[in-house]
Amino acid sequence: MASKVPSPKGFLYGGDYNPEQWLDRPDILAEDIRLMKQAGINTVSLGIFSWSTLEPEDGVYDFGFLEERINTLYENGIYTILATPSGSRPKWLADKYPEVLRVDDRGVRQHYGFRHNHCMTSPALRKKIYAIDRKLSETFGNHPGVISWHINNEMSGPCYCPLCQDAFRDFLKRKYGDIKNVNHAWSTTFWSHTYRSFEEIEAPSSIGETQLHGLNLDWMRFVTERHKDFTAHEIQAVRDGGSNLPVTMNLMYNYTGLDYQEFSDLMDYMSWDNYPTWHKGSEVAVGFDSAFEHDRIRSIQRAPYLMMESCPSSTNWQSVSKLKAPGILEAQQIQAIAHGSEGALYFQIRQSRGASEKFHGAVIDHYGGEDTRVFREVAKTGHALESIREVLGSTVHSPVAVIYDTQNRWALEDAQGPRNAGLYYREAVEKSYLAFKKYGLNVDLIDETQSLDQYQVIAVPMAYMFRQGFEKKLRDFVANGGRLILSYWSGIVDDTDLCFLGGTPHGFIDVCGFRSKEIDGLYEDEIHSASSVDSREERHYNFHNLAELLELEGAEALYTYDQDWYQGQAAVTRHAYEKGVVFGLAADFDQDFYDDFYEKILKEISCKPILGQAGSFVLPTGVEVSERTQEDGSIYIFLINWNREAVEIPVDSDCEILYASGDSSLMGQFQGEAGVKGTDSLGDKYLLHSYECLILKK
Ligand code: GLA
Ligand code: ZN
Repeated sequence: MASKVPSPKGFLYGGDYNPEQWLDRPDILAEDIRLMKQAGINTVSLGIFSWSTLEPEDGVYDFGFLEERINTLYENGIYTILATPSGSRPKWLADKYPEVLRVDDRGVRQHYGFRHNHCMTSPALRKKIYAIDRKLSETFGNHPGVISWHINNEMSGPCYCPLCQDAFRDFLKRKYGDIKNVNHAWSTTFWSHTYRSFEEIEAPSSIGETQLHGLNLDWMRFVTERHKDFTAHEIQAVRDGGSNLPVTMNLMYNYTGLDYQEFSDLMDYMSWDNYPTWHKGSEVAVGFDSAFEHDRIRSIQRAPYLMMESCPSSTNWQSVSKLKAPGILEAQQIQAIAHGSEGALYFQIRQSRGASEKFHGAVIDHYGGEDTRVFREVAKTGHALESIREVLGSTVHSPVAVIYDTQNRWALEDAQGPRNAGLYYREAVEKSYLAFKKYGLNVDLIDETQSLDQYQVIAVPMAYMFRQGFEKKLRDFVANGGRLILSYWSGIVDDTDLCFLGGTPHGFIDVCGFRSKEIDGLYEDEIHSASSVDSREERHYNFHNLAELLELEGAEALYTYDQDWYQGQAAVTRHAYEKGVVFGLAADFDQDFYDDFYEKILKEISCKPILGQAGSFVLPTGVEVSERTQEDGSIYIFLINWNREAVEIPVDSDCEILYASGDSSLMGQFQGEAGVKGTDSLGDKYLLHSYECLILKK
């Protein structure tokens, strides 16, 4: 899909800017502009937490500072992403309309404070946010310096007030029609929890009901619906104010409180906030974990997106505030571009003087000068993005995908089942992801509602909940020639967490060629292994946590269990179905198994990695590769070395170097403390130093 991220001046570069904290310091506001220009900054996000400045009293609006800032920034070539102010509310709003304050699951209404914590049902809040959003839109929605709407900020969390409880019951009425259907779907006869009417239903609560998994699941869906409905209301306000600018909302890392996929239709483009815990353990692990999140966000719309926030230095909310080693900052920002982001923005431009984020890293710190290590690296990165401008608008295409489904995760992690000590869903998804990345491919991370048509191989780890129609989609995918890797604990329950009867994986036994009979939970210290039925392969592969026992109904065993009373039974299977093949993984194998097994599958179908040829090329460990394709057919290959050591990269002869972060000839004035170590070209091999990036064009 083509890009809907507005980018009037190349990649968006800049970030959250809170000038309302500096209105008494015009000298600082002027200095900000000078420094931003010097760093190649072309975009700021304004107004995210400005409500009390913009509407100091109920119905009294004062947009003066915002107008002055937007104009001045624009005159200086800096564009504004304008936020609706719903991330945080003024005190008068809470005092006058206490219903805007959330109620917790024990029924306690919260006091005023903090942010991101309103009741999304409150008519008073909706009325007030509509009024200010519409006015902002009327005032700035067609300003040439404003390019996009930033709706709310990092939306999250439920409210359990009476208004929300009523809205939940309405949601259930719309969904189920008759209370009998609810009782069936949630299996309420268990422990005598039968409801006689919708009016009797309450949200799950730590001092009430938590044991009806169907209720818990519908509550999570309702919480998503509330946020979605509130967001739609805000979008309506900016549209009614006459602005047609694109809208986005900023999502969070590994956040499971909302099903982000549900917001896909509302948003013109997706965006997210990226705060990796660099240097906590290995940079390789953190680098690939960030890659995973980038791919997940891009896959929501399978379109260009935006990294809305990231930290130029250390955050102040992680358990340890670690500085980024020289070079990491640029690698982190280029990584966003590599995965399909149309920009790389920061939180925040100028460091706050007071309150909770005064020690959070910023482009301009309390010292205030440009002669800081962080500022130099920010400036170097800004100029890097300028130099690769031709990449803008190109898109990411992935030959493979892993199914990563939030609603499945809710159900899976809530159900008391084979391993309450940890099922490791995200880790299971990540293992498939990493194996595909290691082979050198772009990877999509899609959920069960998305189409599977464009992929050659799909991994389906722990698809415990087969959402409506999913088994049919998988069947069609395999029938049409796809390679499917289906793991243990899949196809167990339906949409409301009711167990399927008559054998699992539900509706798929004839396609995968086995039936799951039982599943064994392993204690933490139990490490089991499996080995190939092919006696030439001597390797044993370890697994942990879970081992499923299969009744083969057509599939052949490729690996069998080495231990326990089920020694010799199938641990990995293969079954051809129409034009395709299903591989079954019955146990939670370690990464090495995934790497080797996926490589075999990919080679078998001659899947070409981004660099080199299928079967003849192995990317050095710890090096990440991804590619973007431009409309004119140009391909941009991004390589990042997350290792602490240099590695040699064989470069295809038809590639030219578009950008190398370590190339001293490209460094010019930005050389210095910025982590420049120089990169030597070794004929058709390229020596990539630690944390360096190389962008090739072909
Ligand atoms: C989030 C918020 C920002 C800021 C940063 C700090 O991403 O959206 O307002 O608090 O965290 O890391
Ligand atoms: Zn509420």
